[in-house]
Amino acid sequence: MLQHSEADRSSVLGFIRKVSDAFAFPLRVSHYIELVNPLWADHSMQARIEKVWDETSTARTLTLRPGANWRTFKPGQHVRVGIPIGGRHFTRTYSISSGAESPDGCFSITVKAIPGGFVSNHIVRKLKVGDYIPVGIAQGDFYLPDAQPVEPLFITAGSGITPIMSMLRTLDREDRMPDVRHIHYAPHVHDVIFGQALTDLQARYNRYHLQRIYTREPGQAESAAGSAGSQHFSPAQLEQFCPDWRSRDVYACGPQSLLDALESFWESQGLRRQLHTERFRAPLAVSAQPGQAGRVTFAKSDAVVDSDGQTNLLRVAEDNGLNPEHGCRMGICHGCDVKLVSGCVRDLRTDELLQEAGQVIQICVCAAVGDAVIDV
Ligand code: FES
Repeated sequence: MLQHSEADRSSVLGFIRKVSDAFAFPLRVSHYIELVNPLWADHSMQARIEKVWDETSTARTLTLRPGANWRTFKPGQHVRVGIPIGGRHFTRTYSISSGAESPDGCFSITVKAIPGGFVSNHIVRKLKVGDYIPVGIAQGDFYLPDAQPVEPLFITAGSGITPIMSMLRTLDREDRMPDVRHIHYAPHVHDVIFGQALTDLQARYNRYHLQRIYTREPGQAESAAGSAGSQHFSPAQLEQFCPDWRSRDVYACGPQSLLDALESFWESQGLRRQLHTERFRAPLAVSAQPGQAGRVTFAKSDAVVDSDGQTNLLRVAEDNGLNPEHGCRMGICHGCDVKLVSGCVRDLRTDELLQEAGQVIQICVCAAVGDAVIDV
């Protein structure tokens, strides 16, 4: 009976919305509602920045209150956020760093300002409480399995700790912290994002074993275990800090060099299926040929610019004031698909040359080879 009345109410509301939309045409009622409160709009999803918090001198956490269409997320997943800067719209993807099912309905992302990174520096230095930014729904398959409890080994470096922090906070909130081994790499002690939160977890759970390794502090690892030789990942280090690593599921996030090393090692041990990695960038192929510089014509934009033959075309366009549509920036979502009009481009992930006129290319992972004309 209750279900019946809810269905009725929803169809009445749907009808009212349709009629209202007809009067609001060519916009929708939601566009006017957005002027009152962006979080009530349902034609796009916005989030309000509720709080900003500096984790380190270069990393900041934004607590976001999402709008009407937000759904929950699994700890470890990421979201796309839109960043308007100077009349242009940029999209970036960040892992969620807060625990799932927060009682206040908010979630957090933690962003590290990359040297020379226009958008990440804007987020860390310029966004403030009360700003609204577009967000997508949470996505990704990097999360702990629901059904069967695991005793994980986490391996993280730098801002790669963000999805793992979401997992740890969720396990803590739900009071089901298993036996966890965690190796975290950072250049120096002051670069450790969530340093205090990790220390608190260590103090509260003797089954949470954290090993911090400072890669630019000569010859030392933090604990009494002392140096394992290399300050970057090595099998000897793994044996020392997590002797039962063969029996653990591994969740790793960090720069490409670390993830490549882990994948190659676990592969060599025949245990690749136990390793789960989260990348922020597409893995790039090592090219046999040097990049070939040239002139790229963005035909629809009437722009002709220089290319070094190595930088992806999305970045080349943005560096020259253009704003092509895009999403993940790592060759997954196809949000940047456009046609190659003429010339040749190289897929930076596979080193494959694409040169058929009319062929669809992903400009976030393709660089021009010499001169090329792109339908942007
Ligand atoms: S932006 Fe997602 S594939 Fe290029």
